[in-house]
Amino acid sequence: MKRTKIIDALRRTDYGSDVTVMGWVRTKRGSKSVNFIALNDGSTIKNIQIVADAEKFDEELLKQITTGACLSCTGKLVESIGSGQAAEIQADSITLFGTCDSDYPMQKKGQSFEYMRQHAHMRLRTNTFGAVMRIRHNMAMAIHTYFHEHGYYYFHSPIITASDCEGAGQMFQVTTKNLYNLKKDDEGKIDYSDDFFGKQTSLTVSGQLEGELGATALGAIYTFGPTFRAENSNTPRHLAEFWMIEPEIAFIDLDDLMDLEEDFIKYCVRWALDNCKDDLEFLNKMIDKGLLERLQSVINTDFVRLDYTEGIRILQEAIKGGRKFEFPCNWGDDLASEHERYLVEEHFKKPVIMTHYPKKIKAFYMKIDEELPELNGQKQEQTVQGTDVLFPQIGEIIGGSVREENYDKLMGEIKERNIPMKDMWWYLDTRRFGTCPHGGFGLGFERLMLFVTGMQNIRDVIPFPRTPKTAEF
Ligand code: 4AD
Ligand code: MG
Repeated sequence: MKRTKIIDALRRTDYGSDVTVMGWVRTKRGSKSVNFIALNDGSTIKNIQIVADAEKFDEELLKQITTGACLSCTGKLVESIGSGQAAEIQADSITLFGTCDSDYPMQKKGQSFEYMRQHAHMRLRTNTFGAVMRIRHNMAMAIHTYFHEHGYYYFHSPIITASDCEGAGQMFQVTTKNLYNLKKDDEGKIDYSDDFFGKQTSLTVSGQLEGELGATALGAIYTFGPTFRAENSNTPRHLAEFWMIEPEIAFIDLDDLMDLEEDFIKYCVRWALDNCKDDLEFLNKMIDKGLLERLQSVINTDFVRLDYTEGIRILQEAIKGGRKFEFPCNWGDDLASEHERYLVEEHFKKPVIMTHYPKKIKAFYMKIDEELPELNGQKQEQTVQGTDVLFPQIGEIIGGSVREENYDKLMGEIKERNIPMKDMWWYLDTRRFGTCPHGGFGLGFERLMLFVTGMQNIRDVIPFPRTPKTAEF
């Protein structure tokens, strides 16, 4: 089919030439003598206006052109006077591909996001979700471009796995066993030997462990794929299925890692500002008036680099000064999102990269610090070289670390945490066969999307969200 995309038609200035556009009707208004149809084809947030004189068209056809209908229109490109666009089309012929039933769920403007989620199959046709999805594509391109330009290889870690990288036990099982007739051994445990893979398997919570194998051979890799977590967190920041970007690099230390995290995020945000102008302006107007300013400010500020222990000291100071928090914050506690947001949004007013967390609240693979930290003159427990990047509005956007490369220390952790050894032998081999200092991080793609779009709920930055009790569409 020969057609011009609306994004291109709107840019053209060869007024008087013929043009064919195809798309979905956003609105139709007009009088007895003339109809104005706003058409959108997804190539841009902007609609093109079609002017259809009633005398040229069958009355029945014009009646069928309602919001949501799909059509092709050929006509003359003319300079627009009224519609706020450069060009519009004076229609000569219209072919209706599909009429739209009257119960089209996206008919009314201003529906709630909850309503949109219930109609997620059609919400993609709205301005907001069109903008979000175009930005999502652009962010994926930014990520691939960044790593490609910096000499990283795109590395495909498996989705089905037998190991729990984060050790948090939040995995979705994968099985072909007949769940109505499960064979159990003498102790009542399920026997997986006759399951598809001959062992218990799940969907991955992270591609990191395999990523480390890639990095310790190729030097620098990144993964970018779906990740699954069966955590029952019904929050605006958690999904059961989300996309994660995990670079892993040989021969880096903690400072290099933090430099990479900061440079990478800024690159992505700059990409959005450079390539998604119309969509961001729309979101800035309709969703979040501070969006563009916040994006600009992130690329122009140095992120704060903050030791966990120092973070706790600042929070305890704030509490002494009368600041109230719902959760306690003693050394050793995992920071609650209210604490993270206090540091980022109130205390520093910029993104914070927090490091040197207590060992007991982080995963087994993180490199153990040599020295014990001190708080109020007292030595605290062991810490690790983990880094979380904390962002305004979002909280944790990146989690990463330098990895423990010493075989004995890593084994010590695995034993201390009772991680089943039989699942880990291949991972440990990296520490036996030419071990090297290395590290990496995981960026939650939808958390980045929340930041870049100003959307409030993570369910609204992925086409079809998966959350507890919802797997529709
Ligand atoms: O901090 P996490 O759990 O780190 C890891 O999985 C490491 N293996 C990464 C690495 O070092 N290679 O997760 C990384 C990021 C978080 O910072 C967050 O942005 C995102 O993944 N994330 C989620 N996003 C949406 N929904 C969830 N349930 C998420 N859990 C984590
Ligand atoms: Mg984390």
